[in-house]
Amino acid sequence: MGVKIAASILAADFARLGEQVQTALATGTEYIHVDVMDGHFVPNMTVGPFIVAAIKPIVQAAGAVLDVHLMIEKPERLIPEFAQAGADNITVHVETCRHLHRTIQHIKEQGVKAGVTLNPATSLGTLEEILPYVDLVLLMSVNPGFGGQTYIQSSTNKIARLRHMLDERRMVHIELEVDGGIHPGNVPEIVRAGATVLVSGTSVFRGSGSIQENIAALRAAIDR
Ligand code: DX5
Ligand code: ZN
Repeated sequence: MGVKIAASILAADFARLGEQVQTALATGTEYIHVDVMDGHFVPNMTVGPFIVAAIKPIVQAAGAVLDVHLMIEKPERLIPEFAQAGADNITVHVETCRHLHRTIQHIKEQGVKAGVTLNPATSLGTLEEILPYVDLVLLMSVNPGFGGQTYIQSSTNKIARLRHMLDERRMVHIELEVDGGIHPGNVPEIVRAGATVLVSGTSVFRGSGSIQENIAALRAAIDR
């Protein structure tokens, strides 16, 4: 199965959001990634369920995955709202969940795929007990909060170690998603390390070419 691209709308022009999402989807991006920030867990604020609901029809019409990354304290409070808004995946940070197993169950009860995400300094060991219950793991390759940051180089080794954990446990159905600082130059090493979904905001919406050209450049780097 091919490696997928998740276009992060954080770097899009919000005055033309629908149009830009549509363009990314027309180019074949498999996921649309929505970064939800609360100004507490991360030092920035972004969007809520309302924006997820607004882009849902466009994403659904394209048969793509609406991938919601919650960077908020007490994410369990808002899971039903994001599910109703049309999220296909909801991913929570292990750093924000005191009862992670309950939160993951709660996501699945809404008929939504459940993901867990780790900050750069959070150990893969925190996944040990929850792996059997999740559909995806999102590794942060920057500190969450902002787009346009530089890829933390040690992430490649962390991706490789997670790939090994998943393969060893025969959990190959779990998507290994990587988020932050991804560009055509580092895509080959990230793919070689074992990622299956690449989140990219800046390289898609603020790259040197059009959205179509930028996605094509990422795709070419995946196949390199
Ligand atoms: C960062 C977000 C990312 C962000 C990645 O907190 O989780 O999804 O949009 O953006 P780039 O591609 O600009 O690093
Ligand atoms: Zn994200």
